[in-house]
Amino acid sequence: MSGHDDADLRSRVARLSTEQKVRLLTGADFWALFAEPDVGLRRVVTSDGPAGVRGETWDERDTSANVPSPTALAATWDCDRVAAIGRLLAAEARRKGVDVLLAPTVNLHRTPYGGRHFECFSEDPLLTARIGVAYVRGLQNQGVGATVKHFVGNDSETERMSVDVRIDERSLRELYLAPFEAIVLEAGAWAVMAAYNGVNGSTMTESPLLRAILHDEWGYDGLVMSDWTATRGTEAAARAALDLAMPGPAERFGPWGDALLEAVRAGKVDETLIDDKVLRILRLAARVGGLDGASPASPAPVDIPRQLRATAAASFVLARNERSLLPLDRSGPGGSGLGRVAVIGPNAEIARTLGGGSATVYPPYSVSPLDGLRAAGLDVAFAPGPLGHLRTAAARAPWLVRPGGAGVGADVRFFSTSGQVIGSEQRDAAVFRWMNGFAAIGAPEEVDRLEVSCLIQATDAGTYQLGVTGIGRFRLLTDEAVLFDETLTVRKGADVGETLMAPPVRLAPLALAAGQSVTVRLEHDVHTSPMASFGTFFQLVLEAPHGTDDEEMEAAVALAAGSDVAVVVVGTTAEVESEGFDRTSLALPGRQDELVRKVAAANPRTVVVVNSGAPVLLPWADQVAAVLLTWFGGQEFGNALADVLLGEAEPGGRLPTTWPASEDGLPSAQPDDGVLTYTEGLFIGYRAFDRDGREPLFPFGHGRGYTTWSYDSITVDCDEERVAVCVEVRNTGSRPGREVVQVYASRPDSAVERPVRWLAGFAVVDADPGETVTVGILLPERAFQHWADGGWTLEAGTFALAAGSSSASLPLTGGVTLK
Ligand code: BGC
Repeated sequence: MSGHDDADLRSRVARLSTEQKVRLLTGADFWALFAEPDVGLRRVVTSDGPAGVRGETWDERDTSANVPSPTALAATWDCDRVAAIGRLLAAEARRKGVDVLLAPTVNLHRTPYGGRHFECFSEDPLLTARIGVAYVRGLQNQGVGATVKHFVGNDSETERMSVDVRIDERSLRELYLAPFEAIVLEAGAWAVMAAYNGVNGSTMTESPLLRAILHDEWGYDGLVMSDWTATRGTEAAARAALDLAMPGPAERFGPWGDALLEAVRAGKVDETLIDDKVLRILRLAARVGGLDGASPASPAPVDIPRQLRATAAASFVLARNERSLLPLDRSGPGGSGLGRVAVIGPNAEIARTLGGGSATVYPPYSVSPLDGLRAAGLDVAFAPGPLGHLRTAAARAPWLVRPGGAGVGADVRFFSTSGQVIGSEQRDAAVFRWMNGFAAIGAPEEVDRLEVSCLIQATDAGTYQLGVTGIGRFRLLTDEAVLFDETLTVRKGADVGETLMAPPVRLAPLALAAGQSVTVRLEHDVHTSPMASFGTFFQLVLEAPHGTDDEEMEAAVALAAGSDVAVVVVGTTAEVESEGFDRTSLALPGRQDELVRKVAAANPRTVVVVNSGAPVLLPWADQVAAVLLTWFGGQEFGNALADVLLGEAEPGGRLPTTWPASEDGLPSAQPDDGVLTYTEGLFIGYRAFDRDGREPLFPFGHGRGYTTWSYDSITVDCDEERVAVCVEVRNTGSRPGREVVQVYASRPDSAVERPVRWLAGFAVVDADPGETVTVGILLPERAFQHWADGGWTLEAGTFALAAGSSSASLPLTGGVTLK
């Protein structure tokens, strides 16, 4: 630990006054901790999040590598690859002056309705744990801290600030705490984030679980920080093992600061508790190189585009591939070449490469499926299909032009209350988010009004829709007219995530001739924003003219009919999948199901690419030749898609979560009178489907590659220390391939209630055509234990083991008898 042992850190704590110590326990601002020169502590910076490192600003001036969404990382089932992503994130963190990443999110896919499903790894605690350990090791080995979140039971979003989640002790231990336990004990996480919700009657920032489990049981020596504004009270939170209230400063966000100082002085909170919290802050600082002017570690350089492209391809799950439509053969039937490829669907042009909420970063670029397939040199034609369900996107090239006509972008001017211009920014995009004051001026309270100026330049003649999405008062003007002057308000009771990711939209029609440009000014009264105490956020949005949904549908179907192959990209939108709210339906928004059915009827060579972070219903799945599930694929999404469609890369993913056929029988995310009871107990995901004998659309662990495998033998080796399984598989196809060999345990004659089967271990293998590979998989002790009477216990007897390519395809069986 960078030469700072506990004695050294304790002596530093002893040098501080009570005021100095208490000050350190709340953030200095939205993202950083306070510096304390008296003990050599510099400002330590945190940043979201799981899919990239945002840094302290959140717009195009400071872009971040956008990695595939965490569910996609888990879909690789490849710990080495995920550790490499951890190293990439560490390099990004250092480049952006970040010491501690607010990731990974290891809550479980308890239900596909969960709004942050895309941000979590899996429905299975073992897979979540293995991927989480790899992620944290990759990051922390390079000197950047991980914050494992959200401890615990934050598996959905509805009423997340107040909901009391009731979880029985066994499910809490075997499912929800298991990933935290593995990451704390094996990877030694440097920070844990206490969730917004409560569990079994206590809000998590005051929960007895923090001390009893993290400190006393697991011997955790890291820091516990609150989720943003999750610290509710002064004394109870201080007595619980919460160390740091975020964000700060306390004068703005509370509830520690002076109130805590008083509580310590009045003897209501023991000063030794404060000392322990400060010790943990200093320990974190020592680990990230934040003491005594140390130089933080310099992570190894990374080829970001290459790594992101390969990782996205390795995460895509080829769920269906009839008549081996994929990979597409460039040389075509009889060497005639691949003919025209119809690329269809709105997500084909503007793909979702990441999910909404705090995990959002601003990537330097994003390769859409359309861009990727064009760059691969294919003869591509595009039709968006119906657009009715889409939120209007931010104004962009070629329509958004800076005043004076020089380049893409807009100019921003900031005004004081007396109307003086007090700052300006030249921007390259129309997405504006000032979250930590205004870079050009500093303090948010000095800005009364701001003004965005640009030109809107028409390409085609027609009616454009120009407007704003944001909250507060906006006036939109052209040279000639005031288009609107309105105060946009957020839905009553909306969560901050919803406020940020899906604020209201106000549009005005603007009829333009081809090539015509108009001068546009958007004025905003900053003090009317709900975020006025730290900045404001909004976007200038623009929709170019397009046909009606029926006309666009017809054009897409006609294009498919006249093409060699149709690639339809369907997906969710930011209003459907985001932090801050849960889904209320798993159906694809708008008329996308109809679009797929009509295109597939027009062209039997139809591939459907599903661009969603979490399962959506695919009621047409058996009517299309191929289905590729691609998650939110990160900035290299389109290139990876071209690689996989053309067979230059394997679709390496296997489902980390069951893909249901319908909404029947799924756990609810809706609290009842403030309480969300996990009535399903241990039976989430495949554990529920197996128990009920329900068929999902695609089972947990499922995914095809471009080759075939035979599972030839299993042997089980067991001694006092370990259970090891050896599985022999053979690549029986004609291409090199990659397989995820999965081992499940079960206990048919058990005296305790158990799932039909549960994942006990897995390994990734690569093999050439005809090659046989024997892979050894160590099964952890925990795979055979269950929680009973306040402890882990082993039910002596014989456990059945089965190996195969998914939870529903397990051709090899064996067993092990344990005492
Ligand atoms: C989220 C956290 C995030 C924090 C800071 C909260 O709303 O729940 O996951 O790290 O904001 O952005």
